[in-house]
Amino acid sequence: MKNIYQKEINPFKIKKAIIPVAGLGTRMLPATKAIPKEMLPIVDKPLIQYVVNECAQAGIDTIVLVTHSSKNAIENHFSKSFELEYNLEKRIKRQLLADVQNICPSDIKIVHVRQDEALGLGHAIMCAAPIVEGEPFAILLPDVIIDEYKSNLKKDNLAEMVNNFEKTGISQIMVEEVEPEQVEKFGIVAFKENSNYLDNAPKHPIQYSPGEVIPIQALVEKPRPDEAPSNFAIVGRYVLSADIWPLFKETPLGKGGEIQLTDTIRLLLKHADIQSYLIKGCSHDCGSKFGYTKTFIEYALHHEAIKDQVAELIKELNK
Ligand code: UTP
Repeated sequence: MKNIYQKEINPFKIKKAIIPVAGLGTRMLPATKAIPKEMLPIVDKPLIQYVVNECAQAGIDTIVLVTHSSKNAIENHFSKSFELEYNLEKRIKRQLLADVQNICPSDIKIVHVRQDEALGLGHAIMCAAPIVEGEPFAILLPDVIIDEYKSNLKKDNLAEMVNNFEKTGISQIMVEEVEPEQVEKFGIVAFKENSNYLDNAPKHPIQYSPGEVIPIQALVEKPRPDEAPSNFAIVGRYVLSADIWPLFKETPLGKGGEIQLTDTIRLLLKHADIQSYLIKGCSHDCGSKFGYTKTFIEYALHHEAIKDQVAELIKELNK
């Protein structure tokens, strides 16, 4: 099989990731009126840079950013700025120059495609088809970042999901345990062990360990707590087999006339195994005002240059 970017495709090798950045970011308005949500900083790096770095650590070599005409700042962030580099060099700001030059990891190629209208996550992924179709691939939602202090990005999580897929050919979806009363905010997985969940079977009697993979029986979108098959939520990282590509075209339009990725994955589940991968460490949802603020504070408390001042400030504020 071929797409325009690759002559021969290995169906077990994950080399490409799709990062959709064409959404409206309404939960972060008014900040996101003129600035893409993905460019909001967590301390000194925009969200998108954390996610690109995660891809690099997991061995991805090509990232397809699905973008929109209002999101030029993202493209600019990953392009070389001769003027800025020249000025930093002239002023002998060596560390800053290195930081700017290393924004895009040297072994990663970033390609941009446009989604002119925000017609849903599934539609955004379809926009990357000319570059990725026929290949297995990863998807990373950039408003979620994986805590890099509680996990090792080079070995854990996305890297491990890629590794699992390359060994077995089974698609992987990252999940994280959430408070049972929070399930209605998320896509929730039903595990095969709980396969009779619709008959009110015990909800989640089995303890799972971080990094464990558990076969998925079903995906349930935002269930009521008393109807949820588990309290394990999908948190924005997927490694999917190439078999999903033809299914996008068969996916019926969902809520708001949008093509929902979850619906396409449900079609895949009808004829292929899919495993949930239980996160090591934790994720941070930066797409909401509270989630973003909490992540900023947590990362500031770890940042070498300012952590002592921030800890001191928090102590002061608590007095
Ligand atoms: P979200 O639904 O979390 O992001 O989609 P959003 O729509 O930008 O934000 P809110 O809900 O209005 O605040 C998850 C990711 O998918 C992208 C978004 O940019 C976000 O990174 N996305 C979503 C697209 O690229 N296209 C779409 O049509 C929808």
